[in-house]
Amino acid sequence: MAIVRAHPAAVADAAHILKRGGVVAFPTETVYGLGAVALDAGAVARIFEIKHRPQFDPLIVHVGDDAMLAQVARAVSARARALIERFWPGPLTLVFERQPDVPLIVTAGLPTVAVRMPSHPVARALLRETGAPIAAPSANRFGGLSATRAQHVEHMLGAEVELILDDGPTQLGVESTILRLEPTAALLRPGALPVEEIEAVIGPVQREVKEDAAAPLAPGRLAQHYAPRTPLRIADLERVPLERRAGAGCLAFSIAPQGYAAARVLSTSSDVREAAAHLFESLHELDALGLERIDAEPVPEHGLGLAIMDRLRRAGA
Ligand code: TXA
Ligand code: MG
Repeated sequence: MAIVRAHPAAVADAAHILKRGGVVAFPTETVYGLGAVALDAGAVARIFEIKHRPQFDPLIVHVGDDAMLAQVARAVSARARALIERFWPGPLTLVFERQPDVPLIVTAGLPTVAVRMPSHPVARALLRETGAPIAAPSANRFGGLSATRAQHVEHMLGAEVELILDDGPTQLGVESTILRLEPTAALLRPGALPVEEIEAVIGPVQREVKEDAAAPLAPGRLAQHYAPRTPLRIADLERVPLERRAGAGCLAFSIAPQGYAAARVLSTSSDVREAAAHLFESLHELDALGLERIDAEPVPEHGLGLAIMDRLRRAGA
């Protein structure tokens, strides 16, 4: 781990780390983010591991320009365009339909992706040098306070983050405002951009926010959003009788047993991080096959294994 002033050479180092699949912390105008290249599922899995998130929670994808937005969002409506013109770069996150290339670990299995264009010069330089969209949650331990200084990141996550770009305290100190536009405009998380300013551009925004639930589409609810249509159960695959395997699919940790109609292996090297990176894609693929059942093998409950098992239990509930 190294905490370094965000001079151009350090930003170049950070971009290099990102391009080879690593994770770095960087300042934005709201809070510090913990970033990885958004299209690299394995690198994104590492973010969850470092944050010790007990479950997958969709991440915000940061873009530096319109071309990067087009890489992650399928279409940009006229209303979204109006907000972008007015508020980007800045602390407004918009929810779009996701491009199929965006790994499902980024969106926690949702068909949508949350995107924002940060205004902080270091974040912008990092995006430019990396040349790719960067997925980044706030750079704090799960459940902990957001980091508004590089030292907060170092304190909470330091040992596990290769590089922390330090540019002093962040300007805004609270996370971005998250807005959904479809089917109706709704505030998903109040944040650094006041909702009144948004309403001045697009008219009334539904504020379905309760005081105790700053984000109505909170992690847990979002996770439940994605349930395979195919019945799923957690099972010791080796013990499932052969005749019960024929019409079913299996989601194996490292080795798929014989006899299943379809099989997906999460990590041939039994690596929970690699498994996490493949989880949502594999579930999606199996779900598309019209199988009578999916048997999912338990994975070791350490590191990202906890998140995987949480997700499988929800999927099987
Ligand atoms: O200011 C910020 O937004 C900071 C900086 C680093 O950019 N980032 C941040 O990320 O606060 P994070 O991971 O702490 O918050 C992500 C939240 C999720 O918990 C969820 O509420 C929402 O964004 N979210 C992400 N993807 C979504 C989606 N597809 N639909 C609805 N909400 C989504
Ligand atoms: Mg957060």
